[in-house]
Amino acid sequence: MHIYKWDSTLSTHHTNIDQDNHEIIRKAQHLKNLMADGTDQKKIKEAADRLENMIYNHFEQEEMMQLYSHFSNYEAHKKSHARFLKALNRLIHSIRENPCESEHLESLDALIQDQYFNHIKEYEKEAAKFILQRDFYHN
Ligand SMILES: [Fe+2]
Repeated sequence: MHIYKWDSTLSTHHTNIDQDNHEIIRKAQHLKNLMADGTDQKKIKEAADRLENMIYNHFEQEEMMQLYSHFSNYEAHKKSHARFLKALNRLIHSIRENPCESEHLESLDALIQDQYFNHIKEYEKEAAKFILQRDFYHN
């Protein structure tokens, strides 16, 4: 089974953003392990809800930091969040409906390993760099 791993290519160098991403990866892996095991539907649904909440909170915090720093690429970043949340909502809804469907494992891989990791690399690194530079000059 594929394991989600945080590595240095995902580092944004922003402590809070990196901590959130570690936690999102940990929660996604926990959900995946429970789904692969497939015995406890209640636990699968709870893990899916926790992952969804964590990602919502992370995006909200990040957008607030970006607004506060007058981040120049805020609109594009927000649109990337919206695209991701649409895919996340679809999958979480489907997991709630049928927690033991084996196709969810591949969908979660695509969502985390491809879409989320790409979001970090393409958008969060850029935003974190801007926020850190802004904090450096304004504090
Ligand atoms: Fe983001």
